Amino acid sequence: MTRRPYIVGNWKMHGTRAMLSEARAIDRAAQRHMKVEVAIAPPYTLIHAIHREAEQIAVGAQDCHQADGGAHTGDVSAAMIADAGAKFVILGHSERRQMHGESDALVRAKAESALAAGLRIIMCCGESAETRESGKAVAFVKRQLKASLPPADAMPADVAERLTIAYEPIWAIGTGTAATTDDIAEMHGVIRALLVDLFGPEQGAEVRILYGGSVKPDNAAAIFAVPDVGGALVGGASLTADSFMGIALAASEPFEN
Ligand code: 13P
Repeated sequence: MTRRPYIVGNWKMHGTRAMLSEARAIDRAAQRHMKVEVAIAPPYTLIHAIHREAEQIAVGAQDCHQADGGAHTGDVSAAMIADAGAKFVILGHSERRQMHGESDALVRAKAESALAAGLRIIMCCGESAETRESGKAVAFVKRQLKASLPPADAMPADVAERLTIAYEPIWAIGTGTAATTDDIAEMHGVIRALLVDLFGPEQGAEVRILYGGSVKPDNAAAIFAVPDVGGALVGGASLTADSFMGIALAASEPFEN
């Protein structure tokens, strides 16, 4: 692969200030693995504190509202998270789509707002177990991703710098059972072809595609050896520096994609 592997921890709704020591440990370890780009997306409440202390890792958010501001009680805008120190935002995670009813159109509006605020985005996609069992996973993910991404003419020129895709099959999230390397290879190949189609051969080939869903230190190396895997979006195993950096270490071994 041509770009540095990108290993992102999604802390979900885990973490109080007591977790800052873990973020510090991740930051220190990341300084020893410069071949890997390491980042964490903590809850909103920890973004600024981690941003202030981190020397190596980037900090991001797990969502943002699509509007710039206004009467939206409880919501946080892209500009606000950027102001707190976030460099990126995860959008369209299946937990947002399922638990908050986020549609593709809403996710797309959030992406446009985040890009306008100068953030990088990690756009999530992934099918349910039922969709996979019915043999429609590829068609579903293509349609979901196409409908969730801003059109090429609304993207910044440096698409590959600002956009990352995360393929996270819902059935693999938090279950301890990652997708097989064959399934990952098939879907990442499909996503790569879609990106080339949407954004052209140069930018489309450079956008990193992360795999997410039960990535652990002991299965990471096999996943990173799959063509078109540019890193991982990690949930549970990102909550301790030991396991998260075990995954980053697997990504720092030379692997060709
Ligand atoms: P787990 O790594 O806990 O399966 O979660 C994956 C995920 O949803 C990351 O966004």
